[in-house]
Amino acid sequence: MAATEFVPEEHYRAAADAVRARIAGSPAIGLILGSGLGPLVDEIESPQVIPYQDIPHWPHSTVKGHAGRLVFGELEGQPVVVMQGRTHFYEGYSMGQVTLPVRVMRLLGVNTLVVTNAAGGLNASFSAGDIMIIEDHIAFTGLAGFNPLRGPNLDSFGPRFPVCTHIYDPGLRKLAHRVAAENDIPVREGVYVGLAGPSFETPAEVRMLRALGGDSVGMSTAHETIVAYHTGMRVLGFSSITNLSIDDPEASEEVSHEDVLRLGRQIVPRLAVLIRGVLRQMPPYDPAEVENHPEHE
Ligand code: HPA
Repeated sequence: MAATEFVPEEHYRAAADAVRARIAGSPAIGLILGSGLGPLVDEIESPQVIPYQDIPHWPHSTVKGHAGRLVFGELEGQPVVVMQGRTHFYEGYSMGQVTLPVRVMRLLGVNTLVVTNAAGGLNASFSAGDIMIIEDHIAFTGLAGFNPLRGPNLDSFGPRFPVCTHIYDPGLRKLAHRVAAENDIPVREGVYVGLAGPSFETPAEVRMLRALGGDSVGMSTAHETIVAYHTGMRVLGFSSITNLSIDDPEASEEVSHEDVLRLGRQIVPRLAVLIRGVLRQMPPYDPAEVENHPEHE
C-alpha cells in the first residue's frame, strides 16, 4: 500500500462521484462508528450499502471489529451516512488518506458529524462501560507533526489556519446531556487524547496523558474532527470507555483488543439511545455558528 501523503482534490471528487452514482438522495448527518460499535448500523432504515473497496481512493480497514462499509439511510427521520468501520493512521495510511472519508461526506452534503470511538479511561473516576461526551481533544499525533491538514491547503474545503476553540459543538454537547438525562443514561464529559497507536500506552504514558488533562485515550477521532471542523461541519463525539488505562507497572490486569470489542458491544444499546435522541432533537445546521465556515459571523 503506497501512502499518498497529500490527497489531491480530484481524489475526493472522484470518490464522491462514485458514491453519487449509486445512491439516491443526499445525507446531512454523518456517523463514524468505532471498534465494536458497528452494530449501531442495524438501526438504520432503508439502508443502501457500498463496500469501501467499491469507492476509488477510499482507505480500507484491516482491523478486526471494523466492517468497512458505507451505509446510507434514515435514522429518526434524518438522512444519514454511516461509516461502519474506519481506517487508522497506524495501518500505514497517511493522515490525508485516513481523513478522506470526512471530506467526501462533506461533498455529499453532510454538515454534522457524529464520531464515536473505543477508548481507554485515563480519568481515575471512570469505569469500563462508561460513555463520555467529548468536550475537547488533545490531538497528540497532530502536535507531533502529523496534523491531517499538513500540506497544500485546499481552499474549497476550508481556511489555511482553522480555529479550533469550539471544535466539539457546544449546543450538541448540551443536547447530548439532555437526552442522556431524559433516558436515565449516566454520561461523563471530558478531553479525548488522540494517539497514533497501535501499541497501547505504557503506565508512564498513561500518567503523563492524565497529567496533561486527558480523560480518555484512543487511536482515532481527533484528526477526523479537525478535518470536519476545518470544512465547516458541526461535530459531536462520544468515547466508549472500553477499559481503564493502566497506570501502574506492577498492575496484574491487561488491556486487549478482544476486551475492547466486547465492552464496545455492551455499550452499543445505550449509545444508540443517545444518538437517536440527539438526531430526533437536532437543531438545524446554521453555518453562521460554525467557526471555520465562510458564512461564520
Ligand atoms: N488506548 C488506546 N486506544 C484504545 C484503548 C486504550 O486503552 N482502548 C480502546 N482503544
